[in-house]
Amino acid sequence: MATRTRGGGEGVIELRSVYRSSDYTRFLYALLSERTPEQSISHKKMPSFPDHETFVMSKPYVAWYMVLADGRPVGSIYLSKDREIGVTIAQADQGRGYGKEAVRLLMTRWPGDRFYANINPENKRSIAFFEGLGFSLVQQTYIHADRS
Ligand SMILES: CC(C)(COP(=O)(O)OP(=O)(O)OC[C@H]1O[C@@H](n2cnc3c(N)ncnc32)[C@H](O)[C@@H]1OP(=O)(O)O)[C@@H](O)C(=O)NCCC(=O)NCCS
Repeated sequence: MATRTRGGGEGVIELRSVYRSSDYTRFLYALLSERTPEQSISHKKMPSFPDHETFVMSKPYVAWYMVLADGRPVGSIYLSKDREIGVTIAQADQGRGYGKEAVRLLMTRWPGDRFYANINPENKRSIAFFEGLGFSLVQQTYIHADRS
């Protein structure tokens, strides 16, 4: 089932399961390749496409959707079992209200008393984005890890 809305942005925004089409896996890989170091909390290297496919098919999240604008893929959004939201809009489509509407749709579809967003402190845009949606800072977590 898809959820549609005409939000504050451009076009009709719809969430559709990433498992509905194999083309979506390719789109998700392209989205991943646009990721910059400050957008990645884990600083992982770009996986190979087969590794990416394996990850997608492992169904790692409670829900994982393509964000469609007037039927066209513009990004993706997921909800983890710990109720963390991860959202990415393709660079060419950022700043059009799609991300905001996608988060609102996800929260409506998976109601609950809390949602989280893990954001790299360097990612100022994403911080402004989630604060604009009513999220606030609760903790800063430090890590000691091999970043290679
Ligand atoms: C963060 C991200 C999802 C925002 O999606 P988007 O579709 O570009 O954002 P929207 O157009 O819906 O903007 C919504 C709000 O975000 C903020 N925002 C958007 N563009 C911004 C910019 N260039 N600078 C600062 N804040 C900005 C604003 O608060 C805006 O609110 P407004 O509509 O009242 O002005 C998108 O930039 C993205 O995918 N970034 C890369 C991946 C990432 O960092 N994901 C978050 C990690 S979970």
